Amino acid sequence: MATIQSILNETRTFTPSASFVEQANVSGMEEYDALCAEAEKDEAAFWSRLARDHISWHKPFTRVLDETNHPFFTWFDDGELNVSYNCLDRHQTTQPDKVALIFEADDGTVTRCTYQDLYRRVCRFANGLKSLNIRKGDRVVIYMPMSIEAVVAMQACARIGATHSVVFGGFSAKSLHERIIDAGAVAVITADEQWRGGKINYLKAVVEDALGRGETDSVKSVVVYQRGSGDLQLEANRDIWWHDLIRDQSETCEPEWVNAEHPLFTLYTSGSTGKPKGVQHSSAGFLLGAITSMQWIFDYKSSDIFWCTADVGWVTGHTYVTYGPLAVGATQIIFEGVPTYPDAGRFWKMIQDHKVTTFYTAPTAIRSLIKLGPDLPKQYDLSSLRLLGSVGEPINPEAWMWYYTTVGQSRCPLVDTWWQTETGAHMIAPTPGAVMLKPGSCTLSLPGIKAGIVDEAGHDVPVGKGGFLVIKRPFPSLARTLWGDPERFRNTYFPEELGGKYYLAGDSAHRDADGYFWIMGRIDDVLTVSGHRLGTMEIESALVASPLVAEAAVVGKPDEIKTEAIVAFVVLKGARPKAEDAHRIVQELRNWVSQEIGPIARPDEIRFGDNLPKTRSGKIMRRLLRTLARDEEITQDVSTLENPAILEQLKQAVA
Ligand code: WTA
Repeated sequence: MATIQSILNETRTFTPSASFVEQANVSGMEEYDALCAEAEKDEAAFWSRLARDHISWHKPFTRVLDETNHPFFTWFDDGELNVSYNCLDRHQTTQPDKVALIFEADDGTVTRCTYQDLYRRVCRFANGLKSLNIRKGDRVVIYMPMSIEAVVAMQACARIGATHSVVFGGFSAKSLHERIIDAGAVAVITADEQWRGGKINYLKAVVEDALGRGETDSVKSVVVYQRGSGDLQLEANRDIWWHDLIRDQSETCEPEWVNAEHPLFTLYTSGSTGKPKGVQHSSAGFLLGAITSMQWIFDYKSSDIFWCTADVGWVTGHTYVTYGPLAVGATQIIFEGVPTYPDAGRFWKMIQDHKVTTFYTAPTAIRSLIKLGPDLPKQYDLSSLRLLGSVGEPINPEAWMWYYTTVGQSRCPLVDTWWQTETGAHMIAPTPGAVMLKPGSCTLSLPGIKAGIVDEAGHDVPVGKGGFLVIKRPFPSLARTLWGDPERFRNTYFPEELGGKYYLAGDSAHRDADGYFWIMGRIDDVLTVSGHRLGTMEIESALVASPLVAEAAVVGKPDEIKTEAIVAFVVLKGARPKAEDAHRIVQELRNWVSQEIGPIARPDEIRFGDNLPKTRSGKIMRRLLRTLARDEEITQDVSTLENPAILEQLKQAVA
């Protein structure tokens, strides 16, 4: 196979300060190497030690990994635990008055909830769910705004052994309907309203619409949290207000002890490609991945104020809001709103106000905040920060540099964390007190994670060559299957072509001479230009490195001579250019890319928009852009698109 060629050449490096290294949970490369060596020497002993150290077991496990039913691995499968017990009960006794959640509402109102409060709220709600006849193994769909209640709802499901399926509050009735049916949900937990960026979404109305579309007889109850006016009609015999449900419930609720492999949740992957997949996670393995990555990658300390900006509708909000931070007993921020409301200083103000130490967000947020106010962070006191993180997409080196220098003041390590809904927790990311950083690289894999890069036959590619990112050995937090579709799980993630052995992530990547991983984008996002296979992400990074450009997405369109021509969709830092300027800017950008990475990568066509089409989780929808680049009619489902209006702009090529 023609391996994917890497054209990005980034040489800047950053080492952690002596004071950071000294206090770090994994302090210096010797400690990192020692952990890797421990895993290498005896994989089962390594994971078993961590599972004993970090998880409170109701019944200890005696078995570790079982690979007999490949690729449906099981871990610790004769152990019993309860995930909510691990997140709440063990802190409720040792640190009842520590603040667990600091909730900041869209309008700036702040509410605090201690471990003791949270424990009681979860128990009351769990008892409420039981009173609705919801039992272990039942599926519950959660369609909620970011709120303390969203966390309570998820934890309460975990407490009674119900499997939750959170659907992001921005999804349409159609998407919600599909997910309710696929899960065979017995209940939906929602809210009357959602407040984001000064606007109100009527969530219950969307639930009503979804349930009205048929085949939803499995749903016996709808619980409605009153966020807003509460001015709506409940359906008798099905709907109940949250506050009515918990009114007479006890503040304790014995956790339902479940097997380590019991499905804690399913979560549908975002719709940038094909029909959504219900990724199913275990209880113990998932929890272990959440805890070890909190310790290793976020270098968790009990004095931290942790803030992961992800919505609980995404996996990042599962692992690094609802489960990881609570399992380690952290204080964390939960934010209802959006980064740009009331202005683009909102994140920085919140970091200042709450003295956030650890801040974890997505490149899409970083890029839009650079566009809206590159100097805004300087107006706030960000001295509480000690660690920054990024997730969700490759972070272009220039966005990385801005985040590192302007937000982190060149003082805070920046952990670029590569992982997926399917992997449950970080896979490739720097342990910040050990690993040297390179802007744009997610660096090295976590101890015990055997990541590699292979060609189409499953053979390792040489240093510097791009290929398919795989994980060669099972690990505890890996998804167990796709809900109701094990064959699709096998075919998608353990394809025959690679010998069925390795977990195929679906991303392309390469490694440099230091063994660092550089993610080049999804496998589909590779172009063949005059015999060269190029990752679109590298061309995008070159464009974003131009002082004019805020964001860029690159796709191919068929070309008789070159196989594929390069089409770039660009958002400028300033306004969208007028016709007379567009030509000049196109020329400038084409020359820029030629100089940055070579004429082979020079875009053939550049189009400008005020924004790019993104999924609700902020991922650029390249599938749609490919259709636009070909000047074809859009037939794809655009219901998950955040901003449909900009498609018209992007249809127009610069004449
Ligand atoms: C991409 C989000 C580069 C990647 C946790 C992956 C990244 C997909 C990074 C999973 C990163 C995520 N660098 N690419 N640090 N993090 N991705 O399931 O393509 O929403 O396969 O999980 O996002 O997205 P998902």
